[in-house]
Amino acid sequence: MKKFAEKICIASLPTPIYRAERLSANLGGPDIFIKRDDMTGVGVSGNKVRKLEYFAAEALREGAGVLITCGGPQSNHARATAAVAARIGLLSHLVLGGPCEKIPEGNLFLDRLFGAGTTFIPGAPLLELAEAMEKTAGSYSREGVKPYIIPLGASDALGSLGYIDAMGEIQTQSKEMGVTFDHIVFASGSGGTLSGVVAGCLVHGLDSHVTGISVAFPPEWSDAKLEEIFSGLRDKFIPDLPSPSGRYKVNAAYIGEGYGKASPELIRFIRDVASLEALLVDPTYSGKALFGLAGEIAKGTFKKGERVLFIHTGGAFGLFPYREQFAGEF
Ligand SMILES: Cc1ncc(COP(=O)(O)O)c(C=O)c1O
Repeated sequence: MKKFAEKICIASLPTPIYRAERLSANLGGPDIFIKRDDMTGVGVSGNKVRKLEYFAAEALREGAGVLITCGGPQSNHARATAAVAARIGLLSHLVLGGPCEKIPEGNLFLDRLFGAGTTFIPGAPLLELAEAMEKTAGSYSREGVKPYIIPLGASDALGSLGYIDAMGEIQTQSKEMGVTFDHIVFASGSGGTLSGVVAGCLVHGLDSHVTGISVAFPPEWSDAKLEEIFSGLRDKFIPDLPSPSGRYKVNAAYIGEGYGKASPELIRFIRDVASLEALLVDPTYSGKALFGLAGEIAKGTFKKGERVLFIHTGGAFGLFPYREQFAGEF
């Protein structure tokens, strides 16, 4: 496998790919395969771990004492950062745009277990937490602890290397299975996974068309983020990285009422997927994206005879804060 930077190895890799037979039959369209990146670990789980392996290596190289990052109170990325910090013996501090829950649920409960420090900023939009991270970094520095800031979603050129590697892994598995994937589909938020998957297809010679189902931002935002990350990748790691044009699409038709908001249809779909496939997907990320895939199958975008690889990017702990919404559906 091509190596572009140093990383530490924490994720359980390769994650399996399996054919979701019942879900495919139920949706009546293409053959759906699932790449189980929800199985990169337990506390240290989901898509972010692949990116954090690179950030953790850089933080250790720089002699950092605390990993600082940001997200919503139920951020999987923040929880994974806290877990990685605990694994490598560093402190972690999470700047969370939302209110502090009295009794922490889901990911926030795990943040506490992993020993993360927290700063809550009620009402702060996700894209406006960078300044608060700088402030937090300043207070650690003053106490003699070297801070290392990981951007929102670990989404920059360094982080995207995690999904460039994942595409090499998928290329190998695809050869072993004798299956080529016409499409690769997954949840897209801060854009690092999307950029890594598209760049990874180009680097490893996969012809699959990539669809990121946006869970938060409009396609123009995601396109601009991808361009920014591609430019960083060319500057720092892969000077001859080809253009991504025509290789991917961002579909923002399934954001619904907004980031983290779940319609009754989405809740029922998540329940049905769990009972059909024993697959746990959450309303904010993987469930919304799979719901989007189902919606596009119904519209005929993905057709019978095609093979679709859905990357399950994790997020199961994010199911728990939605228990009340599920209550009426059992
Ligand atoms: C479970 C899960 N899936 C998908 C994503 C989206 O990844 P990205 O932010 O790299 O677009 C996230 C981001 O937090 C996530 O937690």
